[in-house]
Amino acid sequence: MNEACTYVIFGATGNLSRLKLIPALYHLEVANRIPPGTRIVVSGRRPWDHEKCISEVRQWVEERSRQQLDEKLFSRFAERISYYLGDLSDDSMWIRLKHHLEPLPQNIAFYLSIRPADFSLVVEKLAGVMLLQQQHGWRRVVIEKPFGYDLHSARELQRSLMQHLLEEQIYRIDHYLGKSTVQNVLVFRFANTLLEPLWNRNYIEHIQITHSERLGVGSRAAYYDDSGAMRDMIQSHLLQLLTLVAMEPPATMEAESLRDEKVKVLKSVRLISEDMVDDHAFRARYSQGVIDNKEVIAYLDEENVPADSTIETYAALKLYIDNWRWRGVPFYLRTGKRMAERQSMISICFRHPPQQLFRELMDGPVKQNWIMLGIQPCECLRIEMTVKESGLDMHIRQTSLDASLRAVLQEKIDAYEELLLDVMDGDRALFLRYDEVEYAWRVVDPVIREWQRSDTEIPEYPAGSWGPPESRRLFDKQEQRWRHSIDLESDEE
Ligand code: BG6
Repeated sequence: MNEACTYVIFGATGNLSRLKLIPALYHLEVANRIPPGTRIVVSGRRPWDHEKCISEVRQWVEERSRQQLDEKLFSRFAERISYYLGDLSDDSMWIRLKHHLEPLPQNIAFYLSIRPADFSLVVEKLAGVMLLQQQHGWRRVVIEKPFGYDLHSARELQRSLMQHLLEEQIYRIDHYLGKSTVQNVLVFRFANTLLEPLWNRNYIEHIQITHSERLGVGSRAAYYDDSGAMRDMIQSHLLQLLTLVAMEPPATMEAESLRDEKVKVLKSVRLISEDMVDDHAFRARYSQGVIDNKEVIAYLDEENVPADSTIETYAALKLYIDNWRWRGVPFYLRTGKRMAERQSMISICFRHPPQQLFRELMDGPVKQNWIMLGIQPCECLRIEMTVKESGLDMHIRQTSLDASLRAVLQEKIDAYEELLLDVMDGDRALFLRYDEVEYAWRVVDPVIREWQRSDTEIPEYPAGSWGPPESRRLFDKQEQRWRHSIDLESDEE
């Protein structure tokens, strides 16, 4: 186990900390993965004392804990916690913070669970009171997404961070990389000889990467209406999935080797020129509809959404990777809020066999093989094949070989548990290097700019649907369809 450290969470009374960070740390406590002596500084602006802080933490843990709260473990957890009251814009808070941290372990991780606009300020202030110097222990800064608002602002942010930090001190989070099924993409690809010869443009016709949600923007409109689906999901999580599916085998599984290969993929993505945006990208916004038999309101009627908002809640993007492995294979990325199902998956569609020997036994051409990598809610891996049914007659049908990753009753680990542990371990493999962020912005920036410029109406889709059928215009071939389900072809559009 590692040496003790101190986790300082800025913005610790906010949503992310309440729903994810503190429960994740508690789960690590239960799993005995927090080094003895480790301390957690919960920092926020609310005028709480220690007791109030612990009672809040207890409530957050109770709400999200996978098991009944264990009193003994919780009191061990609570002993690690201190509340630090401070307003980021108050200069005196930084000196006081330094004193607060002095008696605590000097390996310190600062988690910036705050408004992106304050990232630079906090790093500057920490540097100002010498809290980023590593003489007496390591100092790491964890930065939540979004890293920048576009290419230009990402560069600005990077420039300001580099004035005070070494790249190796920066942990840029993309929580998708903490999901165990996402990491399994690498295992599936590089620990099985079976697939590698097929994993290229000679055998794969196209790839779809989908993240759909049933939730709307809820209370997050203040952030979301400045962002939209392209920035919020595609620039980060979906492009990360694309890199894992498309990358070459890394030299080793160490952070730099992995990141080198991911960056190569992003660099090889064909950039979309202004006049091609309509051919490659599609956006839409949810109108009112029905989810779980309940009426839900339109995006424009959500709290804090301006009536003249032009932000998309659905985005789809077609990309090509111009390298030897992938040239000519379309990658279709799609995400949306208030969609019919919550579903994250990668669907890999193989080419038709060159000869249609069994055509007359099926209604149409023999179905293509698909590999389905379910990320959530179904964590699974399936390969769809055509087989003959047993019996005297020649009946053929599709079947799906299932290599499910998690038994139904097996405990589900949250992505943040893995990532918070990696920060303590100093393992940056699942965090983004700056050049990954930069190249990801290069891919989406032209589309976002064109959408901002355009004055055409944004198409709408009823909440609870799969988005506007017009998004199919992105497909290269008439017969290509969105895969909505991880199950055999039941509901393709
Ligand atoms: C976040 C986005 O990064 O990821 C949210 O800001 C989105 O809009 C969320 O809902 C999805 O992640 P998960 O792990 O909840 O599916």
